[in-house]
Amino acid sequence: MPKTTISVIKADVGSFPGHSRTHPKLLEKAEKLLRNEEGKLLIDSLVTHCGDDLELIMTHTHGVDNERVHKLAWDTFMECTKIAKDMKLYGAGQDMLSTAFSGNVRGLGPGVAEMEFEERGSDPVLVFMADKTGPGAWNFFLYKIFADPFNTAGLVIDPAMHKGFTFEVHDLFKKRKILFRCPEEIYDMLAYIGAPSRYVIKHVFRNDGEIAASTSTQRLSLIAGKYVGKDDPVMIVRSQSGLPAVGEVIDPFCTPVLVAGWMRGSHHGPLMPVGLCDANCTRFDGPPRVICFGFQICNGKLIGPADMFDDPAFDRVRNRCNEFADLIRAQGLFEPHRLSLEEMEYTTLPSVEEDLVGRWENLPHE
Ligand code: F6R
Ligand code: MG
Ligand code: MG
Repeated sequence: MPKTTISVIKADVGSFPGHSRTHPKLLEKAEKLLRNEEGKLLIDSLVTHCGDDLELIMTHTHGVDNERVHKLAWDTFMECTKIAKDMKLYGAGQDMLSTAFSGNVRGLGPGVAEMEFEERGSDPVLVFMADKTGPGAWNFFLYKIFADPFNTAGLVIDPAMHKGFTFEVHDLFKKRKILFRCPEEIYDMLAYIGAPSRYVIKHVFRNDGEIAASTSTQRLSLIAGKYVGKDDPVMIVRSQSGLPAVGEVIDPFCTPVLVAGWMRGSHHGPLMPVGLCDANCTRFDGPPRVICFGFQICNGKLIGPADMFDDPAFDRVRNRCNEFADLIRAQGLFEPHRLSLEEMEYTTLPSVEEDLVGRWENLPHE
């Protein structure tokens, strides 16, 4: 049996109204294009959205970074961009930073999380998709899932997990990576991943080498050199039988974690776990949202999805997120609701400063 690859590739190619949600016509088109490839390039596919992001979930046997699979995603986004432009949807084609495809979608705008593995007897997989935040948003949750025994009892109780997990952390500014073997190096790792605008967890491996999680890490602003939309990341997590249980993987989302990326990519807000029916951004273009689809993988087939956050068990965190949103919104654009100056990706401040530059006077030395 060949190994199975799961590729989750996403882009915002236009939405309505404003940046709130993907139009059904785009979902239909993408679904059709991917379905045409089932039994050929792909084994299975599923198209969905989180807020204004069009999400393509694909399974196949061609490994990660496969040119043909990435080209299919690219062409699909291009076709959807055409529809978005015809309908004058908002931000039509905004994440397609290049006009030409070259080898794979990395660096061209779309976000991608992929993993290849040998299917176990039974392989539950969870796919997380977020809107109005950036790739570092997963850091907290991955730490809780794979390194915190107060979240994941299996780290202590399950002998297959007892040796811990290794985290691959990327430095998005200096374009370098490092591996932290946990639990031994938890303190070293936390020194970095607590700064999620720069350091993001890309992969997690069980310490015997088995792949456990993979995330998208692209930051459009770092690619384009200016603000061109939020990065709205995706993440794949494998689960059970020597990996964290499904319930251990989703439990950390009961904490209303503050993430960067709300309105204009320039505000902190609580990341709210929602079912697909609520995966539409509204208030202040948010609050930031995350959905989770659960599958069993069967010879590459996606058995599912189960809409994991569509559950009253997550009502309380949603209420807390709304309370938190009220509190922090009351601060208007005062930090820390608004991001710090260094992190502000999208701001009229530089042009305001240009106008005022001549009016600043130096202070005398004290
Ligand atoms: C974009 C986003 C939105 C926009 C905001 C202003 O991902 O989340 O909050 O930044 O709606 O958009 P423009 O400048 O296009 O009017
Ligand atoms: Mg948008
Ligand atoms: Mg988005």
